[in-house]
Amino acid sequence: MPRISPVETTVTIELDGDQLQAREGEPVACAILANDQLIFSRSAKYHRPRGPFCMTGACAHCLMRVDGIPNVATCRVPVKAGMRLERQNALPDARIDLLRANDFVFRDWFNHHEFMAGWPIAEHVLLKIARQLSGLGVLPEKAAEHRQPAIIEEHELVVVGAGAAGLAAVRQLTTRGVPHVLFERDPHVGGRLTSGAEKGQPAPWNAPARVGAEVVGLFADDGKPFLAVVEQERLHLVFYQRLLLTVGGHAMLPTFPNNDLPGVMAGRAVSTLIRRHGVLPGKRVACVGELDEARSLAELVKGAGGEAIAIGAEVVRAHGLRSVNAVTVKPNEKLGCDIIATCGPPSPAFELARCAGAEVVWNPSSRCFEVVADNRGQTANPALFVAGEMRGPMSSSAAAEQGLAAADALAGAAR
Ligand code: FES
Repeated sequence: MPRISPVETTVTIELDGDQLQAREGEPVACAILANDQLIFSRSAKYHRPRGPFCMTGACAHCLMRVDGIPNVATCRVPVKAGMRLERQNALPDARIDLLRANDFVFRDWFNHHEFMAGWPIAEHVLLKIARQLSGLGVLPEKAAEHRQPAIIEEHELVVVGAGAAGLAAVRQLTTRGVPHVLFERDPHVGGRLTSGAEKGQPAPWNAPARVGAEVVGLFADDGKPFLAVVEQERLHLVFYQRLLLTVGGHAMLPTFPNNDLPGVMAGRAVSTLIRRHGVLPGKRVACVGELDEARSLAELVKGAGGEAIAIGAEVVRAHGLRSVNAVTVKPNEKLGCDIIATCGPPSPAFELARCAGAEVVWNPSSRCFEVVADNRGQTANPALFVAGEMRGPMSSSAAAEQGLAAADALAGAAR
């Protein structure tokens, strides 16, 4: 069993008619992995198997139908007793999907639009087939419930993201008596300080924060900027005078053949599963990629009772039909494994900053788009500050330093 320690109280959930035991409140994806299931659904068009990669809601590899609603990111949804989960995009089921033939028949490309062209008599049949091949799930069982009106808020200073940079910033703002509000989309603060594998991290601070509050957009009304925040399924329109973004980055999927197989996971996803949820997703874990992070992750894996192999190696290809069963690493060594954990810095999450007017540039050395800011974190928009990994790869100590510098600048301006 992938659980590192036994769970005292469990609830029952249903996956394609099978009963699974889960811990209430843990992410659904985590509960499925803890039940030794790696295949979550099938991809559009080629119907290749899919399983979680990032565990942060950024890759769409863990989408499932949950209680009749399609395309739910199961890594972001907490388990509730009696939940009904269905794998989607498969005929008859995701483990033996017959539509996978598409991946073998159309080796080079497949255009489902042309699939229908010039066949007027058979078009309605072909349309149905094309939808099965190319669509994502089927419509919900019932109409969405009526939403309550949005709550309007106004704040002088808003901080988004409670990882290393955000926590250091709000600690300094608190010390200097600067009023602020902190939003964090996870149900807890800490970010990689409490779920990563990095050595020598600063200790997390249990800052007062509005956790489980996800910023989903940034807009303006009559020139006044506001954030759209979803908190407990309610929309809040949060107007602000100044904004500090410390939202980190998205796990990057390295390029190698079969990199989309279930079992290929971001190193931080594996460390999150181990540290935060007590789940080791496989017995033999190839900890590949950036050496320092790979070493630290390997220690976590071993501490959880697993075997770590290929530490810091460069992947040539992943092997497996439905999920990973081996990896070939440079120069040319094939090793059996269940999980390939790809270690390395994330790609900066620049989207909100870009919407707020920051400049974003391509950095050829990190091979990422990064948010441009001065040494205090101020961007091209004087009311917008950024800190941490959204400015490029860095340790959590360096991110905390940037958070501190941004807080000092904001506190100075507040006087
Ligand atoms: S979106 Fe859920 S694992 Fe990436």
